Amino acid sequence: MMNRVTIVGAGLVGETTAQILAEAELCRELVLIDIREDAPQGVALDVMQTSSFFHFDTRVTGSNEPSAMAGSDLIIVTAGVPRKPGMSRSDVLDVNLKVIDGIIDNALEYAPDAMILMVTNPVDVLTYRAWQRSGWPRHRVFGQAGVLDASRMASFIAMETGFSSLDITTIVLGGHGDTMVPLPRFCTINGIPVRQFIDEDKLQAIIERTRNGGAEILSLRKTSSAYDAPAAAVATMVDAIANNRRRILPTVALLDGEYSEKDLAMGVPCVLSEQGVESIVELELNDEEWTSFRVSAQSVRQDIDRIE
Ligand code: LAC
Repeated sequence: MMNRVTIVGAGLVGETTAQILAEAELCRELVLIDIREDAPQGVALDVMQTSSFFHFDTRVTGSNEPSAMAGSDLIIVTAGVPRKPGMSRSDVLDVNLKVIDGIIDNALEYAPDAMILMVTNPVDVLTYRAWQRSGWPRHRVFGQAGVLDASRMASFIAMETGFSSLDITTIVLGGHGDTMVPLPRFCTINGIPVRQFIDEDKLQAIIERTRNGGAEILSLRKTSSAYDAPAAAVATMVDAIANNRRRILPTVALLDGEYSEKDLAMGVPCVLSEQGVESIVELELNDEEWTSFRVSAQSVRQDIDRIE
């Protein structure tokens, strides 16, 4: 269990994450910070009032003051503007860049020993920015994308085959955008390659649907992006860290030579432990997978070049 976790941004992703972290008692104190007056306090009280149903003693509080993050072990950043229908994740970059810079400055002042888990989009670029601006070692600055994308792919495989999601392992690398790299060769149903159960056309359709997973939900929900699965994905990463599980999870990590990339943040399999990103796992990709990975890296790099 962690001592203190802060979630910056008490919107739908922040609130749902708070609920899951509290239910699982992944920390003793959970702080929600938001610039909107009264909002984080209201969300915190609402979550706190589920404690007797879910039997947790995590203390949930809300604040408008950045100083409330003091002493945090982990800062989860969900603040920023979400996408509206028709917008790409990059469209929101300019607005969210300023938001993230402010949060990093606060973290430097009030929680200089924390880890940062970036959720705000475009998550690859903003993870890079958080690392660059904080000057912290790369194991303490990382982002959520691939856990969500992989869970989307797993549910599409479950829907197609009728098999239990529990047995489905998927892996999605690359940037969290249209160029993400689902890796069907590494997808199994209880160890059995997924291609034994799904023909190539259907598999390609699942890959496409995974790439558009966020946009599909946004176009259906209309007034909000996805938040249930994104929050569960964040909580999965927090659980791996809080319990020092050393799980291998796709994580937006700073690359320093891995996958032949440097000075770039994007989704790769990482070992998550109490140190944060303990190490990066390099997969042996085939030519086609490498090509997709490079295209994705190039697209993230273009956004990073824009902010520099
Ligand atoms: C998604 C957006 C929020 O994938 O990035 O749902």
